[in-house]
Amino acid sequence: MPEEGSEEIRQRRRHSIKWNNYPNDTIPLWVADMDLFAPTSVTSVLSEAIRRSDLGYPSKELYDSYLDAINRWTKRRFGYLYERENLEPIGDIVQAIYWAVSTLPGNAVIFASPAYPPFFRSVRESKKDIVTTEMQQIDGVFRIDIDDLEEKALHNRGSILLLCNPHNPTGRVLEEEELKEITDVAIENDLWIISDEIHRDIVFDGHRHIPTASISPQVAQRTVSLISGSKTFNLAGLHAAALHIPSGTPSELMRSIPKGLLSGPSSLGLLAGATAFENEEAWLSQTLNYIDDNRKLLAEFAGEYDLRATIPQGTYMSWIDFAPQLQSSQAESAHRLLLDRARLALSSGEEFLPQGGTPYARMNLATSHQVLKESLDRLKPLLHT
Ligand SMILES: Cc1ncc(COP(=O)(O)O)c(C=O)c1O
Repeated sequence: MPEEGSEEIRQRRRHSIKWNNYPNDTIPLWVADMDLFAPTSVTSVLSEAIRRSDLGYPSKELYDSYLDAINRWTKRRFGYLYERENLEPIGDIVQAIYWAVSTLPGNAVIFASPAYPPFFRSVRESKKDIVTTEMQQIDGVFRIDIDDLEEKALHNRGSILLLCNPHNPTGRVLEEEELKEITDVAIENDLWIISDEIHRDIVFDGHRHIPTASISPQVAQRTVSLISGSKTFNLAGLHAAALHIPSGTPSELMRSIPKGLLSGPSSLGLLAGATAFENEEAWLSQTLNYIDDNRKLLAEFAGEYDLRATIPQGTYMSWIDFAPQLQSSQAESAHRLLLDRARLALSSGEEFLPQGGTPYARMNLATSHQVLKESLDRLKPLLHT
């Protein structure tokens, strides 16, 4: 990875929202994409297609090679194979969340909070009820409270459970035993499961991602799985994701939505995904090592300066509690405090919690070592109280 400073990254990433939303003196560590380079096999294949002006509607062969590459990757890395005929290409995971939330039966959607903001929006806009179960932080690790989940499920039998694993924003990667307990609750209470696994490849040593559908055939029958290469290979702007919809009720209901209302992947997105999933395991492990160094840097810093930051097991986000710093300032939220006093733009905690999360902010660690170091330096004056 070339070591870049913030000005170099800003110049290079000139069309990204991340680097254009705040003044130039502010370092952006918010929206979930990486400042790191995408794999070279991907950038070459894209440049070549652009040079040939091969930018028309994608062929059936391109769709097939994309879905086959995703499935082979899933088998190699997670030992699981989705049913190929039930694997559906789609432009974005958020669109897939809306599709599943709005069409699966059940008036309530249960999910753990804090949560990725479109979880709240998709349920609200589908005119369904949001039911959250608050994650418990035990020894620095966020966990789903199974008793509370069970109670919520019992009151909302036949509804939907929206899972996010690895979890954005807490970075938690569910262990097999927990995933079994959670899916048992779903079976006992007849819940459909929507499993957002977009971060499945961003998992650090000592942790393992387990596809929800792989738990058992019974679980697979009620689980809509959402997967993508957009986080894995840093390709979010190319719009290519996929979902697995099990046969039976989910398939009949979800496929009844007119196809014209849904957007498929772009041709460049399909090409990039097919190339990356086929060739870039080595790139992924190098990238994970690089981000892992940032994780370690944050862990060291947090220990030294008493910063309440989670060190993610998976995802490249850290969920940070700035309550002590907020108390000693006039700012109304951690987000504001960091913008005003440190010129750092993190994602605002308020969007991730049902009843406001002013002391929280989410930090994106997928940047250069240099930018992360500079960002942590900017935090120091706030932490020396
Ligand atoms: C949990 C989760 N789901 C979905 C998305 C967005 O996916 P897409 O860009 O494919 O809509 C993100 C992006 O940050 C995410 O963190």
